[in-house]
Amino acid sequence: MSSSPTNPGTNQSWGGRFSEPTDAFVERFTASVDFDRRLALQDIQGSIAHATMLARVGVLSDDERDAIVAGLTEIRGEIERGEFQWSVKLEDVHMNVEARLTDKIGITGKKLHTGRSRNDQVATDIRLFLRDEIDVVEAELKRLREGLIALAEREADTIMPGFTHLQTAQPVTFGHHLLAWQEMLARDHERLLDCRKRVNVMPLGAAALAGTTYPIDRHVTAELLGFERPAENSLDAVSDRDFAIEFASFASILLMHLSRMSEELVLWTSAQFDFIDLPDRFCTGSSIMPQKKNPDVPELVRGKTGRVYGHLMGLLTLMKSQPLAYNKDNQEDKEPLFDTLDTVRDCLKAFADMVPAIEARKPNMYEAARRGFSTATDLADYLVRRGVAFRDAHEIVGQSVAFGIREQKDLSEMSLDELRQFSEVIEADVFEVLTLEGSVAARNHIGGTAPDQVRAAASRAREALAHLGR
Ligand code: ARG
Repeated sequence: MSSSPTNPGTNQSWGGRFSEPTDAFVERFTASVDFDRRLALQDIQGSIAHATMLARVGVLSDDERDAIVAGLTEIRGEIERGEFQWSVKLEDVHMNVEARLTDKIGITGKKLHTGRSRNDQVATDIRLFLRDEIDVVEAELKRLREGLIALAEREADTIMPGFTHLQTAQPVTFGHHLLAWQEMLARDHERLLDCRKRVNVMPLGAAALAGTTYPIDRHVTAELLGFERPAENSLDAVSDRDFAIEFASFASILLMHLSRMSEELVLWTSAQFDFIDLPDRFCTGSSIMPQKKNPDVPELVRGKTGRVYGHLMGLLTLMKSQPLAYNKDNQEDKEPLFDTLDTVRDCLKAFADMVPAIEARKPNMYEAARRGFSTATDLADYLVRRGVAFRDAHEIVGQSVAFGIREQKDLSEMSLDELRQFSEVIEADVFEVLTLEGSVAARNHIGGTAPDQVRAAASRAREALAHLGR
C-alpha cells in the first residue's frame, strides 16, 4: 500500500497533513469500498466525462486525456472480469479506481481529480447508478402491467364475488379486479418516471461544496453523461439525497400495492377460497405435511415490504438535520438504496412472471358469488325502479335474504311467489337482475364492472401504457 509522499504510513490520497496513520479500526469503520464498489462502472463513466471536459476547456492536454481514458477503460475491463484488487485501505470506490489509474499511467493519473471532489463525484455516481436501475425497474413494471392487462382481457367475463370488509358484497368480474391492480401500478409507474426526472440532474462541478476555480464547462459534462442539466447550486448538489428518498418512497408505495395483491393471491389459493391456481413452479411444499402447496412467492413479496419501508425511514432519518453541505453521514445512503433496488426488482420480476400463469377456477368463483346474496343490491335497485323508496327497498330485501338463509336459497333460486311475499311490485322480469350475469352487465359505465367496460378499460390501459413516456 502506497502512502502520502511526505508522510510515510499515512493515506496516499489525503495523508499530507497527517502525522500518524489512521487507527486500524477507524480505517475499517470509515471505509465504504465493500459496498460502494457497486458504483464502479458509473464512477469510471463519470471520470471519463470529467477528463474529456477538462481537455475540452484546456485544463488537461489531449494526450493526458487519452492516457486517462485508456487507463480507465482498462480498469473497467479488470472490474468486469473480476480481476480488480479492491483495498479497504483505499477507503472507497473512488480512491481505489484512482489509485489503480495512477499505478497504470503514472503522474497523469493524479491529474484526473483536478476541479473535482469525492463529494460531487459520489453524488454523481449514485445518480448515474440509480438512473440506470430505474430503467431496469421500469421495464419490469411495464412487463407486469402488460401481463395484468392481458389477463384482465382474458377474464373479462369471469364472475367472482366482490368484497367489502372481506364479506361478499356484489358480484364483479375477475377482469375488473385485475384492472384495479393495474391502476395502482399505473400510478406507481408515473411516480417512478417523475422521480427519474429529479435523479437526472448532475452534481459534478460542485466540487467539495463551493464549485471550482478551474474554467470547467458543466454543460459539456452533463451532456456527455446524459444528464438533463447541471445542478443549480453547489452546496445543495453535494449534500442532498432527497432523490434517493424519493425512490424509496416510490418503492414503498409500490411494495404496499404488491403486498395487497400478494395477500389476495394467498387467500385465493387457500382451500377455503380456491379461486385460483398458481403453477407449481411458483410454490413450494412442506417438509412435514405432504399435502401442502404453499404460495411462498406472494408471501415473500408481502414480507419484503417491511424492509423497503425500513429503508425509507432509514434514508429520511439519515438526511434529517444535516447541516450544509456534504457530511460523512451520507455514506450511509448506499446500502439501503441498493437493497431497495434489489428488492423492488426481484418482487417485480416475481410478479411479472407469475401473473400470466394465474389460472382462474371459474366455477368456484361463480359459486362463491352466488352463495353470498351478492345480488341483494340489484333487487333493491329493481324495487326503487318500481317506485319503492330506497330505505323501504332495503328493508324488503333484508327480509328476503333472511328467508333465503332459512331456506338455504339464493335470491335467484326463489320462486316469484316466494319473492312476492315481501313486495307485490315484484314481477317475473326480476330474474333478469337477480342473475350474476345480469348484475355485472348492468354496471355499464366507465369504471364499472360490466364485461364490455372491462374490455374497453383494458384497451385504454394498453394505449396509455404504450404512450407513457418521459
Ligand atoms: N465514500 C464517500 C461517500 O460515500 C465519498 C465521499 C467522501 N468525501 C469525503 N469528503 N470524505 O459519501
